[in-house]
Amino acid sequence: EKGGYDYFMLKEIAEQPRAVADTLLGRIDAAGSLSLDEVRITASELREMDKVVIVACGTAFHAGLIAKYAIEHWTRIPCEVELASEFRYRDPILDPRTLVVAISQSGETMDTLMALRHAREQGAKVLAICNTNGSTIPRESDAVLYTHAGPEVAVASTKAFLTQLVACYLVALYLGQVRGTKWGDEIQAVVRDLSHIAGAVEEVLGTMEPVRDLARTLADKDTVLFLGRHVGYPVALEGALKLKELAYMHAEGFAAGELKHGPIALIEEDLPVVVVVPSPRGRSVLHDKVVSNIQEIRARGARTIVIAEEGDEAVVPYADHLVRIPVTPTLLQPLVATVPLQVFACELATARGNEVDQPRNLAKSVTVE
Ligand code: M6R
Repeated sequence: EKGGYDYFMLKEIAEQPRAVADTLLGRIDAAGSLSLDEVRITASELREMDKVVIVACGTAFHAGLIAKYAIEHWTRIPCEVELASEFRYRDPILDPRTLVVAISQSGETMDTLMALRHAREQGAKVLAICNTNGSTIPRESDAVLYTHAGPEVAVASTKAFLTQLVACYLVALYLGQVRGTKWGDEIQAVVRDLSHIAGAVEEVLGTMEPVRDLARTLADKDTVLFLGRHVGYPVALEGALKLKELAYMHAEGFAAGELKHGPIALIEEDLPVVVVVPSPRGRSVLHDKVVSNIQEIRARGARTIVIAEEGDEAVVPYADHLVRIPVTPTLLQPLVATVPLQVFACELATARGNEVDQPRNLAKSVTVE
């Protein structure tokens, strides 16, 4: 049932191009417009929304953090992202013009369920992004957009994450479409890019052997840091979470711009630091800032593991290890940049003799608060 792979996690990593394609299937028509018929909130209700609040836990929360960039950029609707376990305890401001998006692979996570119940009690509409048909979270929501990742068995979420991202992009584009924002042309271009993205995920999967080799050489390290900016920041958080839960190593993700506000003090000789580099095209100012960050940490002895777009030559002199990812639009980069981090964590767990599919102390679905 593991389809020839040693672990479900490896099988699920490999299934990502299909999972991404399946989640897009039927949702973008030949004319490039979006139809989300499972979303039972009317277009006129959506036009009235003046705030989006995303609630989720763990990896799904990281998908939400990335969604915020897409939603605010494409729709100009303010978007907050909150850990479901924190949400209702701070008495959040909600009303019928708030769209709450609850993201959950299992659909049974108690923290997320309690957050959505609280939101509905306050009169907000809830849209669930979920991978499990008929589970509690979609049943209790006003609308649901299913991710079509197929069953995810490994405790560490991989393909569910990528499909959550796709679903979030679809929600963002759909909101942009029904509201007719000034980003119309850009949205059409993104719709086209999204329909090719499964191929880019496939491409990156084909180049992971050096990442595995590198991971094995780091098995005796205590700490790995992850840095990113913009959508690369949540990717860094996700890379760190994967490493914690699988390799039982100390791992932390930072916003690269925060380095000088504290974390740079952690840098010491030969400390592995994974850096997710934004595309040099488009908003190149972000790219250049991250390249400076790489220089800064390397000057202090860090061993830099740089994840950068194909053709980005500026990073080459400062990368002790260079992992190439396909050229993708900035907001979609997490779909390809996350893959090496999943492979990295899985290989490190294996090298350290850990149980990959069932890490200690964790459950696939956390049904208690
Ligand atoms: O089923 P959910 O998406 O609601 O689960 C949320 C988290 O418990 C989950 O993403 C967890 O962080 C994973 N083990 C991460 O790999």
